[in-house]
Amino acid sequence: MNHLLHLKHQDRIGWIGLGKMGYNMAHNLQRYLGSLHLTMTVWNRSPEKSAKMHSHGAHVAKNLEDLVAQSNIIFTSLANDSAVEEIYSTLLELASQVDHPIIFVETSTIYPTLATKISQQVASLPQKHIYLQCPVFGRPPVAKAAKLVWVTSGDEKAIKKMCLYFTTMSKSIIHLKTLDVTKACNFKLIGNFFAAGSVELLAEGLTLAEKSNVDQESVLKFVETFFPAPSWLEYSRKMVDGQVSQKEANFSVNLGLKDVGHMRQLAQDSGASLPTADLAYRHLKAVQDQGRGDEDWSSLINTLRSASSLPSVVEQSVDVKERYIPEDHKPVGDSHQQLLLHQNDAVLAAHREQ
Ligand SMILES: NC(=O)c1ccc[n+]([C@@H]2O[C@H](COP(=O)([O-])OP(=O)(O)OC[C@H]3O[C@@H](n4cnc5c(N)ncnc54)[C@H](OP(=O)(O)O)[C@@H]3O)[C@@H](O)[C@H]2O)c1
Repeated sequence: MNHLLHLKHQDRIGWIGLGKMGYNMAHNLQRYLGSLHLTMTVWNRSPEKSAKMHSHGAHVAKNLEDLVAQSNIIFTSLANDSAVEEIYSTLLELASQVDHPIIFVETSTIYPTLATKISQQVASLPQKHIYLQCPVFGRPPVAKAAKLVWVTSGDEKAIKKMCLYFTTMSKSIIHLKTLDVTKACNFKLIGNFFAAGSVELLAEGLTLAEKSNVDQESVLKFVETFFPAPSWLEYSRKMVDGQVSQKEANFSVNLGLKDVGHMRQLAQDSGASLPTADLAYRHLKAVQDQGRGDEDWSSLINTLRSASSLPSVVEQSVDVKERYIPEDHKPVGDSHQQLLLHQNDAVLAAHREQ
């Protein structure tokens, strides 16, 4: 039934990459489509993640060829540049053989030159395919709560059409209003630089507090009063409660190194200096070198603690951990999710009327 309606609908959505971000994003989009009795087609390298989406009503593609044949909009959420390059090389090959135009929406954090390269390859095909670079801000629990911040670049008309879908996964959209897809990558790397710098600064300050016998809870209270940004509250609490080693719902040291490496490269290519990123890179690399690259990147505090002759942070009990998680970052249950979709419906309707 769903599949038939899926085929009738003008927009046929495909989704590639169901990692910590991609799964939550695709799930929210599928919820919206499901509310209209429509569905999407998904593919993930590891098939068990696709099976989870199947249980939410998504159609699982047999392979990428199947997905491209079935879709005229394809979202990608992939770990790193090599994964994006590898997948797009196959996608472009397949896209060169179809008779319908496809809008590609690439949401991963990648280096700007790769975005340019793919965008040019897409534009060189006769089918009039379109490539949008649309990275997202927010961690997996934020993606789950459909509260991501999207950044858009590329063809304006296609972006306007895609907003209908972005809205089902986000709390806001930043339109860079440019055809130059490198701008969204640069923007994302600059945004992540502030996050990396915050992690570095908090780790240094909290280590100093412990070494100078200042109560950690008092420091958290200070952060809460003077710097009540969600990321500051979350990272400082994680570091004090020792949640840094968690592997689920995180932004990993491996991904952090990729992003910090990219921002350092961007600084070098642009003739800028980024000393804080250099420090964060060194501290993250030390964690990765210990074989702990899948921990949350706030575990860079353990590099500083070790250099200060302190033991690694130890995880506290669950009720302690939950005290300071900002509302915005708490995962929401189904009823809240329905409400979000309901609220988004008004936005979606407004878009349709435009
Ligand atoms: N986590 C965050 O807080 C966050 C926030 C904003 C943006 N991002 C960005 O969003 C993207 C995804 O992040 P994530 O946290 O979801 O990462 P993740 O959990 O590690 O998921 C990565 C995804 O990429 C797939 N993949 C990796 N290498 C591949 C390859 N060679 N071929 C095909 N598929 C491949 C993985 O497939 P398998 O399942 O088979 O491994 C998985 O679906 C990254 O670019 C990241 O920088 C992350």
